[in-house]
Amino acid sequence: CAPTLVDAHGRRISYLRVSVTDRCDLRCRYCMAENMTFLPRSEILSLEELALIAERFIARGTTKIRLSGGEPLVRRDVMQLIDRLGDSLGSGLDEVTMTSNGTQLRKHADALVAAGMRRINISLDSRDPDTFRHITRLGDVAPVIDGIAAAQEAGLRVKINMVALKGLNDREIASMLRWCVEQNLDLTLIETMPLGAVEADRADHFLPLTAVMDALQGQFDLERDDHRSGGPARYWRVAGTGTRLGLISPLTANFCDGCNRVRLTTEGKLYLCLGHEEHVDLKQAIREGGLDAVDEALDRALLVKPARHDFSVERGAAPAVSRHMSVTGG
Ligand code: GTP
Ligand code: 5AD
Ligand code: SF4
Repeated sequence: CAPTLVDAHGRRISYLRVSVTDRCDLRCRYCMAENMTFLPRSEILSLEELALIAERFIARGTTKIRLSGGEPLVRRDVMQLIDRLGDSLGSGLDEVTMTSNGTQLRKHADALVAAGMRRINISLDSRDPDTFRHITRLGDVAPVIDGIAAAQEAGLRVKINMVALKGLNDREIASMLRWCVEQNLDLTLIETMPLGAVEADRADHFLPLTAVMDALQGQFDLERDDHRSGGPARYWRVAGTGTRLGLISPLTANFCDGCNRVRLTTEGKLYLCLGHEEHVDLKQAIREGGLDAVDEALDRALLVKPARHDFSVERGAAPAVSRHMSVTGG
């Protein structure tokens, strides 16, 4: 039986995030530059390679897999991968899930449920059409709202991800939470992280969630909730409702001590921390040495996983790493 994945800091790696494509139909300002160069097809892992690597993780104790991107649903045939991962549910794997921008969900929601998916996180930074277009540069909000409804109709539990952005969507946070309560959605607020060069200085839009919570507590009856989803969020519950409020505060409340995750990029690099360069090349391993070489690379990876990120959003600060969130998969 293959040894479980435990890093040099004693943290068990049970959560694999897979960026299935670096491409996206939106260009969120905090995530991407206006003109992005995407990877050529020849550089990216095939769906078969992705599945084989994921299955190696499952054999070594990974219980949760999240597909992300880019936008996972813009990769052709991604449903084949989701179906294949679904086959591992109940035999080692507890959860296969996805983070999506929601634009294509009306088309795919039923198939996701049929493959065994039970919940999904959908990015929605604003419900206002003009603000949504401004933040995403290309997007219309209507198909996303419809995609959220489609996901719920199909039976998925939906969590909205909202990156809190000073001067862009800060005045909408309370109304977003109210809407989530009405629609029986969960909401997670996220602090913007300095990954990859974007046109704006991220410090201009950085909003500490400590300040957001002070404001929300004046308007909602919020109770601490010790639920954990396997990700970094800390949760509150809007009293008397089905809605959970999650906070992801990498800058104001570091959660790296409890890190349980690593990230596989589209081109087969396994990054060991969102905010550092340490990685191993699983594409080379699987193509040149097969699954034994993948195992050896994983053993090497565990030794170099950093203890924590050192993000900072000081004015004029360079991004922590040059790669964009769409490459690492969030
Ligand atoms: P749940 O399974 O619902 O807990 O989801 P999740 O929070 O693990 O995943 P999601 O893709 O919804 O990510 C939400 C935000 O959390 C994104 O902005 C991610 O980049 C961020 N995030 C997830 N893991 C980490 C991490 O290890 N470090 C940092 N700094 N941010 C993370
Ligand atoms: N900082 C914080 N969150 C980000 N996301 C994308 N880029 C960033 C960033 N620089 C969010 C998306 C999505 C999730 C995967 O990560 O909005 O919800
Ligand atoms: Fe696309 Fe998500 Fe990045 Fe927005 S945040 S550009 S939806 S990958």
